[in-house]
Amino acid sequence: MKNAKQKRSRSSRDSGSLLPRLGRIITVTILILVALLAGYTAGSYFEAGLSIFPADSRSGAEGPEGDADGNSEAVREETDQTDPARLIHPDFSLDENSLVELVDRTLMGMAGTLGSADRELIRNAILRRPEVFLDRIASVLDGDPMLYVLADKEHFLPEGYAPADLVDMNEYSARLILNRGDLSLRAGVMPALLAMSEAARQDGILLDLSSTYRSYEYQAGLFQRWVDQLGLEEAERVSARPGTSQHQLGTTMDFGSVTPAFAEHPAGIWLAANGWRYGFSLSYPDGYEEITGYAFEPWHYRYVGPDLIFLQREFFLDIQQYLMLFLDEAAEALSAARS
Ligand code: DAL
Ligand code: ZN
Repeated sequence: MKNAKQKRSRSSRDSGSLLPRLGRIITVTILILVALLAGYTAGSYFEAGLSIFPADSRSGAEGPEGDADGNSEAVREETDQTDPARLIHPDFSLDENSLVELVDRTLMGMAGTLGSADRELIRNAILRRPEVFLDRIASVLDGDPMLYVLADKEHFLPEGYAPADLVDMNEYSARLILNRGDLSLRAGVMPALLAMSEAARQDGILLDLSSTYRSYEYQAGLFQRWVDQLGLEEAERVSARPGTSQHQLGTTMDFGSVTPAFAEHPAGIWLAANGWRYGFSLSYPDGYEEITGYAFEPWHYRYVGPDLIFLQREFFLDIQQYLMLFLDEAAEALSAARS
């Protein structure tokens, strides 16, 4: 007991002499750390050219290397980094400020659908790689506007719209599995659909088509059948009112059983993992009914092509509806900014 007491008192005496020294060491260490941190922060701030964009976005990390004049990325970075008024992409008359303004205005226009957390994620993704973003936007604007036309509960397709280039899927019956005899899609979708079906087959998966293009009149009858069966409120969750279905585009299709079980079916699993590689986008993902207006439809895919699917995945949290809403808001301004 005595020993223990002695030990305790010796140790408290030792710490009495150690404490001030320890205090000084801690204070000096903190001061050094603060000095180092201040230097680092100032360094990165100036390195970024006082810009909202981090340095790596300017080198077009995943964009084309060099440019048509043979200027190297390194030279471009050196000269551009301190100039926020430089144009971000040769095809657009947009500098940093005007792009930020356009993006913010567009995202605010989507405010009814887009929560603040997702808005920040999309904003950051675009502003982190604005050159890559605009590169794909340029390709999209040069392409078919019906690939990104918004068709949802609030946005009707042009009255009487019917694609001019529908092809009878029976022409492809040797290479596709058709669950009905009256299926048709736009000609431009066919190469991707055939390639995807072949790739699935190579993986031992058979993709069967259950529904494709639907005329306005067909949608009207189908929606009424759902109302008769489920009542209006439930029908609205699973079926589009005439004139608002993506099926009217001739680029949209349903695979397999058209039931929730398709999500667990090998074909549903394969499509969820690989459909994007061929330009196919799941329109109504699980957990997004408030955003899309429809319950999860693991069987319903819209062909959007390589540029739009890239934008969806890289900048819009892989949610088709976010991408389509953004383009609906911004396509005019982006087109006007083409140089
Ligand atoms: N089932 C989807 C929402 C449609 O009717 O187009
Ligand atoms: Zn569908």
